[in-house]
Amino acid sequence: MFTTNLLSFTALLALSTHTLANGIPVVVSPGLNVSSNPNVTAHIPSCTNLTNNAPSPYCYTKLQETAYLTNWNLTSPEICAPDELWSTCFLRSVYGKPGPKCTTLTNDTKTCEQYNCTSLSLSTALCPEPKAANGTKDATAQAAEEWYGAWNLYALQHHIATWSAALSANTSVKAILAAVNPRVPNTATTLLTTLVSKHGLGTATNADAALVKLLEVPTGRPEPAYGNARVRGESSTLTAAQWQLALRMRLGQVLDLAMGRFGDFLGAVKGGAYSARGLASVGNLTRSLEDD
Ligand SMILES: *[C@@H]1O[C@H](CO)[C@@H](O)[C@H](O)[C@H]1NC(C)=O
Ligand SMILES: *[C@@H]1O[C@H](CO)[C@@H](O)[C@H](O)[C@H]1NC(C)=O
Ligand SMILES: *[C@@H]1O[C@H](CO)[C@@H](O)[C@H](O)[C@H]1NC(C)=O
Ligand SMILES: *[C@@H]1O[C@H](CO)[C@@H](O)[C@H](O)[C@H]1NC(C)=O
Ligand SMILES: *[C@@H]1O[C@H](CO)[C@@H](O)[C@H](O)[C@H]1NC(C)=O
Ligand SMILES: *[C@@H]1O[C@H](CO)[C@@H](O)[C@H](O)[C@H]1NC(C)=O
Ligand SMILES: *[C@@H]1O[C@H](CO)[C@@H](O)[C@H](O)[C@H]1NC(C)=O
Ligand SMILES: *[C@@H]1O[C@H](CO)[C@@H](O)[C@H](O)[C@H]1NC(C)=O
Ligand SMILES: *[C@@H]1O[C@H](CO)[C@@H](O)[C@H](O)[C@H]1NC(C)=O
Repeated sequence: MFTTNLLSFTALLALSTHTLANGIPVVVSPGLNVSSNPNVTAHIPSCTNLTNNAPSPYCYTKLQETAYLTNWNLTSPEICAPDELWSTCFLRSVYGKPGPKCTTLTNDTKTCEQYNCTSLSLSTALCPEPKAANGTKDATAQAAEEWYGAWNLYALQHHIATWSAALSANTSVKAILAAVNPRVPNTATTLLTTLVSKHGLGTATNADAALVKLLEVPTGRPEPAYGNARVRGESSTLTAAQWQLALRMRLGQVLDLAMGRFGDFLGAVKGGAYSARGLASVGNLTRSLEDD
């Protein structure tokens, strides 16, 4: 149950010193308190009922999740280790431990694997889906905000991992090759943009559109571009299997960006694009790709 396992951020702030997963003690000071904003508390109880009607884009907005996360980001440097991903630090702070199997805050990474939402794996072991069960029927605004933060990390990681798995299927090869534009240089980004736009399932929250926007975040260096053999002067082409690898690598890079750079994450989840259940399944996406 979420609340029972949850060392609230309030409690974390109340600690004058706090020992990080790597053993570095840090001084923690309180920042702004979004949870005490009357515009937030006015929307208790509906959005603090974290049973089966959560999450929703409506509550993402009503809980002022963007403001809460921004406030968390502004105070996080004080509770995060210098080399720790913000997403890992966030999960550690809301769950009150460094990883799912850890029992205390400890620097022993051998016995306790840390939360990690950067893997393209569909396993939820290190990037867990926060549970909405009995214990979270009437959470405080702050606990609900923490729950939404953990939910959005899970949902974004899972959505990208779902696309990665679907695009890796052999039956998706035809759709991938069809997305290669013979007239322009093609990159993993241009192909993903085409494929996600064309074969996305049109979720109510526009999660696929948010993913396409995330793909627009500059990589920092030029992406390799591949032409088409039919175009004169463009001899380099990729096989379907090479494209699949390139798409997977690019999705992994996008995931790394979102989990490591707070602003990129916020850009994707703000507005509630990922505040929904069942955004897509591998089976449904694979079928959509197969029907090209
Ligand atoms: C954590 O690391 C510090 C410094 O490296 C060490 O002194 C301490 O014993 C470690 N604590 C645990 C619980 O392993
Ligand atoms: C934020 O405000 C709420 C409601 O007033 C209060 O219960 C909570 O302790 C405050 N948290 C912090 C970190 O000050
Ligand atoms: C609450 O919302 C109103 C209307 O949007 C706004 O004018 C006011 O500044 C908000 N109050 C706080 C504390 O954010
Ligand atoms: C929370 O939502 C569930 C599902 O809609 C509902 O059955 C339950 O009565 C609600 N609980 C509270 C405390 O509002
Ligand atoms: C997180 O997972 C990724 C992918 O599995 C891995 O490369 C990385 O080393 C992990 N990071 C930590 C801190 O465990
Ligand atoms: C909620 O608690 C009741 C009583 O403890 C139990 O019967 C029910 O199965 C629980 N529901 C969920 C969704 O955990
Ligand atoms: C997918 O295609 C590769 C290469 O053509 C082949 O070796 C592999 O057996 C196929 N996998 C499945 C599950 O059909
Ligand atoms: C988050 O914090 C980092 C520094 O820790 C800062 O560079 C960045 O601008 C912050 N992002 C937002 C959206 O506040
Ligand atoms: C998958 O497709 C089925 C049938 O169209 C639909 O009922 C189901 O909700 C879809 N699931 C997801 C996760 O998209």
